[in-house]
Amino acid sequence: MQDRPADALSMSSDIRSSDNQSPDRSQFVERNRTEGHVVSCDGTHAVIAALAGRGDPASEDYWAVGQLISIRVDNNRVVGMLFKVDTNTGLWSSDVSNLIHIHVELVGEIVEDEHGKAKFTGGISSYPHLGAIAHRIRKVDLAAIYENDDERAIPIGFLSQNNEIPALISIDSLISRHFAVVGTTGVGKSTAVTLLLRKIVGTRPDVRILILDPHNEFSSAFPDLAITINDSDLDLPFWMFRLEEFTEVLFRGRPAIPEEVDALRDLIPLAKMQFKGSGQPRLRKSHDSSAITSDTPVPYRISDLTSLIEERIGMLEGRAERPFLKALKNRIDAAANDPRYRFMFANRTIEDNIVDVVSSIFRIPDNGKPITAFQMSGMPSEIVNSVASVLCRLAFDLAIWSKSQIQTLVVCEEAHRYIPTDKTAGFAPTRSAIARIAKEGRKYGVYLGIVSQRPGELDETILSQCNTFFSMRLGNERDQEIMRKAISGSSRSAINFLPSLANREAIAFGQGVSTPMRMTFEKVEKAKLPGNHLYDEQAAVQTGDAMIEVEDVIHMMRFPRGEHGGPDEHYDRGNGIKQPLGERPVGEQRPSLEGSFHDDEGLLSPNEVSANPLQAEREELARLFSDDGGLRSGRDRFARPEHERDPAPTFRPEPARPTSQPQSSPSSGSSGRDLINRFRK
Ligand SMILES: Nc1ncnc2c1ncn2[C@@H]1O[C@H](COP(=O)(O)OP(=O)(O)OP(=O)(O)O)[C@@H](O)[C@H]1O
Ligand SMILES: [Mg+2]
Repeated sequence: MQDRPADALSMSSDIRSSDNQSPDRSQFVERNRTEGHVVSCDGTHAVIAALAGRGDPASEDYWAVGQLISIRVDNNRVVGMLFKVDTNTGLWSSDVSNLIHIHVELVGEIVEDEHGKAKFTGGISSYPHLGAIAHRIRKVDLAAIYENDDERAIPIGFLSQNNEIPALISIDSLISRHFAVVGTTGVGKSTAVTLLLRKIVGTRPDVRILILDPHNEFSSAFPDLAITINDSDLDLPFWMFRLEEFTEVLFRGRPAIPEEVDALRDLIPLAKMQFKGSGQPRLRKSHDSSAITSDTPVPYRISDLTSLIEERIGMLEGRAERPFLKALKNRIDAAANDPRYRFMFANRTIEDNIVDVVSSIFRIPDNGKPITAFQMSGMPSEIVNSVASVLCRLAFDLAIWSKSQIQTLVVCEEAHRYIPTDKTAGFAPTRSAIARIAKEGRKYGVYLGIVSQRPGELDETILSQCNTFFSMRLGNERDQEIMRKAISGSSRSAINFLPSLANREAIAFGQGVSTPMRMTFEKVEKAKLPGNHLYDEQAAVQTGDAMIEVEDVIHMMRFPRGEHGGPDEHYDRGNGIKQPLGERPVGEQRPSLEGSFHDDEGLLSPNEVSANPLQAEREELARLFSDDGGLRSGRDRFARPEHERDPAPTFRPEPARPTSQPQSSPSSGSSGRDLINRFRK
């Protein structure tokens, strides 16, 4: 498919042509002004001489870069893309017809079958001879070039050259071979993605979609199809993180200290074993203890881990490792009490709720909403990396261990953040999780959609695994060069149009389309635009219906989760607008925080309530903004000097308790659990 030709790129929808083959020059001038004659041809290019008068787009002798031209050769029509036009003399007269030279790149051939139906092929059986007649392509030939072989192909817009011809896309090829949408800011990438995702949901209801949404803009675009998860709703227990993901959180994105990582590698499996041996019948039955590593997604208690660290400190009196272990314990305590990380640590009553977490995030069952918009703008950057890694990894593992029953399309907005060109930048586990989907995902049913403003800053190996591209306007030469490499040889000149594409316009090429095409995406109604909730706010200010309340804005800056912030208040922290969720699968399943700290077994003493992250956050914010304290400008409020810190929280190990079976969604049940068990091994 990559070898098929470049595309029709004319902006005019006015297609007219003449089949009159009169060789007479006077007739030619009078009646056949849209025709030209081949005056030069090599294996890839041809030059056509023609006469042009007015030369405006409405006239029949309008020849412009980007048009498709057909050249009659015997019964076939060779198709060429016009990439250059000049007057030969360098002069122009408005009074008479001017002799012009039209340079075309030969891209394929239209052959009529026995029923007279036009069929396009990428090869050329007979090259144009000198004098062969050329003219602007007919609509019927244009439609034949862009016809999609896939019967299930659906329109996503129309050809820029002729808005009556639909731009057809094969959804199956699009997702199964991964796709990328690239273009400079504001050209319509995110909107194009929402359009594509709606088409995918309509055609492939078996595929779930997970969007890593750094600007919190997709939930408002899919009120009917998506659930939203933000850091207030998220329940991703720390024990589901792999060692390197967990250390990324502990070290807050800075390089990890090897001695501390070694200690974690040794002690986490022990903490898991302790938990396993404390009345977890399900785990005991199903797992061989020797199989448990620091990466195995089985639960453990942070308190067990810190106790194990303390034990080891006691055993190493005076030894060099002690300071590392002490630092590690402080690090773990700090993370566990950091209100920003509560989605990992808030649930102090450790339960093996992985089935519920997975079912919720990966929409099993989807309850009519197969899309999860994962809002990341409110999350600390060091957390974003780990969470993205966990999610991409889970998507892959679920596909493998469900034997492709759970198929997921992972859409990475701002993909250059996760998979930058510089291999030393970004977070290695996220990169490898995405690379694994790109390289092997197709076989198991996990797919990748990459969106980026800067294709030149994306990992080339991962980008090269994308087989369908929508390249929107790109001004940067390096970015254009990347696209030039991705497109096949005969279509490369299409890349010349990248800097001048209009908004909503794209050069689409690769597996999902029959032939590279310059197309315009369908218009998306305002209510379904990504981030449309912001437009309403902006419009209200413009019309004077809303007043800017600086006090409220500052309040939102200070208390992005709400003053009583907790799982019951949902704030889109990217824009500060309180947003009710369409559905709260994760939040619903998480026991309330109040319940965690005052549960019926009275697990925590009043002193220990200071370990409550909400309480701690409130106390901390109250201190920060108190009349005497004022705002500690320029300082990390979470990195106060030792003497100002809350007393180190003490966690009492929770008594063993049988795990109640979490309420499973209809489709999870025992098979969901089996799946999780398989993937833990
Ligand atoms: N297909 C479309 N239908 C209707 N409007 C569109 C379409 N594409 C783009 N627009 C308009 O252009 C605006 C910007 O589009 P969009 O947010 O998708 O751009 P973007 O390329 O994702 O930008 P950024 O790189 O900043 O994220 C939209 O808010 C909308 O007004
Ligand atoms: Mg965008």
